[in-house]
Amino acid sequence: MSTQALPPEWTILAIETSCDETAAAVIRGGREILANSVASQIDIHQRYGGVVPEVASRQHILTIMPVIEQTLAEVPGGWSAINAIATTYGPGLAGALLTGINTAKALAWTRGLPLVAVNHLEGHIYASWLNADREKPLSAAPPPPEFPLVALIVSGGHTTMVLLRDHGDYQLLGQTRDDAVGEAFDKVARIMGLGYPGGPLMERAALNVNPGKLRLPRSWLRNSYDWSFSGIKTAALNMVQERMGARFDQEKLANVDARFAGQLAAAFQESVVDVLVTKTVAAAREFGAKEIILAGGVAANKALRAELTRQATPIPVRYPPIWLCTDNAAMIGAAAYYRYAAGLQTDWSLDVAPSLKIAM
Ligand code: KG4
Ligand code: ZN
Repeated sequence: MSTQALPPEWTILAIETSCDETAAAVIRGGREILANSVASQIDIHQRYGGVVPEVASRQHILTIMPVIEQTLAEVPGGWSAINAIATTYGPGLAGALLTGINTAKALAWTRGLPLVAVNHLEGHIYASWLNADREKPLSAAPPPPEFPLVALIVSGGHTTMVLLRDHGDYQLLGQTRDDAVGEAFDKVARIMGLGYPGGPLMERAALNVNPGKLRLPRSWLRNSYDWSFSGIKTAALNMVQERMGARFDQEKLANVDARFAGQLAAAFQESVVDVLVTKTVAAAREFGAKEIILAGGVAANKALRAELTRQATPIPVRYPPIWLCTDNAAMIGAAAYYRYAAGLQTDWSLDVAPSLKIAM
């Protein structure tokens, strides 16, 4: 995708509603965050132990306009500063995505602005183009990532590794054959009774804990950059069952003791970090990557960040701050800037694409 220079002040209002965050942001020049709002539904879904699609859709409808209004209120000039509207159109929950794209279409139509549709996974990668330190001017920000680069997207729905040779030029290197890594974190946390979302709670439980004798299997899938996490998850379930004995009830949260929970969380984290890091570093070396980008909700995990950085040396590893790793609209605005610069505008026939891929 060849990009043409857009004026540096080109400003996009971006919307993201693919899962359980209702988010809007205003991004200037593809890198500068003028405003960023995220209304999280975590509290609502927590009581069900996971995202309930119908509840998410309903909540997006209630929240989207107040979130957009609040976001625009932070931008000098408000609507008059906006040159285009971007929205996530997939992958994600169909009903949740619908709110985002219908709102974006209605606003773009009524305001006579161009519409740009963005792949959510592409958005996660482009979080690394943003100037995360809003206090500092763009001139003081780290330079944008260099191509070719390997991007590892790890979230609740995806574990995908791609090679980027240029903006929009994606080659799929590897993906999960079963559960996404974030999903595995969430499920194991649930089995142990830690709560939802599981990733941060597992990380906290594992902090400074030595897994001791507990060791979970690694699924190497030799001669492939693919991953598999269902075996690790099942092994963790078996360990909890063994520990709880007759007290284990599939329908109820296990509530294992804190010492065991810490050790199992540490063993789980060690196992998934090992397979993710080993394959990502091997791919980066094979394809001569100048950088590795770690993206998506699970990129918030400090053990994963540290181990990838250590093993990839001397290839630099880039990851956004935690608030830009989990779902947000700023990343959608960044990706939209480069898509629009490449002449990729969207027409009014835009529909949701719940199973959208980033590359085949
Ligand atoms: O990207 P994201 O916000 O939403 C999706 O597109 O899925 O990712 C959410 C996922 C959840 O599975 C959550 O448990 C996981 O990211 N996550 C973490 C951490 N923080 C969030 N996983 C491991 N360690 C963390 N610190
Ligand atoms: Zn995401």
